[in-house]
Amino acid sequence: MPTAGAGEVRVGVRAAAVNFPDVLLVAAQYQVTVPTPFVPGSEFAGVVEEVGDGVVGVAPGDRVVGTAIAGAFAEQVVVPAASLQPVPDGVDLRHAAAFGVAHRTAYHVLRSVARLEPGEELVVLGAGGGVGLASVQLGVLLGATVTAVASSQDKLDVAASYGASRTIAHRGADLRQALREQLPGGADVVVDPVGGALAEPALRSLHWGGRFVTVGYASGEIPRIPLNLVLLKGVQILGFQFRDFVEHLPDEYRRNEDELTQLLVEGRVLPHIGAAFPLTEVVAALQLVATGQAVGKVVLDVTAA
Ligand SMILES: NC(=O)c1ccc[n+]([C@@H]2O[C@H](COP(=O)([O-])OP(=O)(O)OC[C@H]3O[C@@H](n4cnc5c(N)ncnc54)[C@H](OP(=O)(O)O)[C@@H]3O)[C@@H](O)[C@H]2O)c1
Repeated sequence: MPTAGAGEVRVGVRAAAVNFPDVLLVAAQYQVTVPTPFVPGSEFAGVVEEVGDGVVGVAPGDRVVGTAIAGAFAEQVVVPAASLQPVPDGVDLRHAAAFGVAHRTAYHVLRSVARLEPGEELVVLGAGGGVGLASVQLGVLLGATVTAVASSQDKLDVAASYGASRTIAHRGADLRQALREQLPGGADVVVDPVGGALAEPALRSLHWGGRFVTVGYASGEIPRIPLNLVLLKGVQILGFQFRDFVEHLPDEYRRNEDELTQLLVEGRVLPHIGAAFPLTEVVAALQLVATGQAVGKVVLDVTAA
């Protein structure tokens, strides 16, 4: 049993969500490395069991959600108190665990980076995945008309059920042509958590002055965009990285977090949990995400047998 040191809290994990970076970390392909052996898992919700010296504002019995580089795919996790947030009353711990990384990323991207406005045309790549489906949900809530792009019909059906007006299955299709047909006036914003071969045709779908936000490279390939496209189309290519956003725009970060929590509390947005596994099947859970088959979020029910 780990113990909480000064400034730390030990949480009894009830649910953990699998994120793409967990896959990269166990494959030693992430931006940071953790010495092996380590327990993976970066997002969890549970109940506080012990607080270390100097911790204020958190007490045993509190329901919390938290993030870490690793350690969350376990019955107990010890983290700095500052990495925890209270789970609002009425929100179950499974939804809390699945809500953090994907929805917060999507909301900061749409609200502060893309500065999405009601009535705008939003194209979301990877629209069946964690960040993509959250972008669909939140884009619709922010009043945009959403075009969802994904590899399979089941992902697109889920995106449509959350309000995507148009869907495009890109596998075996000409994405550039499909976007041109569906959006003859061009898109205002593209959100891209996938990269690879999809990025350029998606960028080409923007009308003059549109915004393209690069969020991640789940395809495993960092796209190279010809700069003359940016010149000719007068578009903006913008980037988002969570830890830099928190550091550089703290006020905007706080505002967005408060707005998003309110949406969760009001039940206006809930994460889509496409699959759940007991902790003993963590490898299968990671593989589902690693192979791009996850729909929405994949959750580990840590207390399940
Ligand atoms: N910048 C940030 O701060 C930040 C924050 C969170 C996440 N991210 C990054 O955003 C990306 C997406 O995260 P996520 O949680 O949405 O992941 P996810 O749930 O696994 O979804 C990723 C999507 O990428 C597509 N894909 C294409 N090739 C793939 C492959 N070889 N393996 C896996 N997926 C593939 C799939 O969509 P198709 O249907 O099109 O195949 C899949 O639905 C990751 O790279 C992650 O590291 C960045």
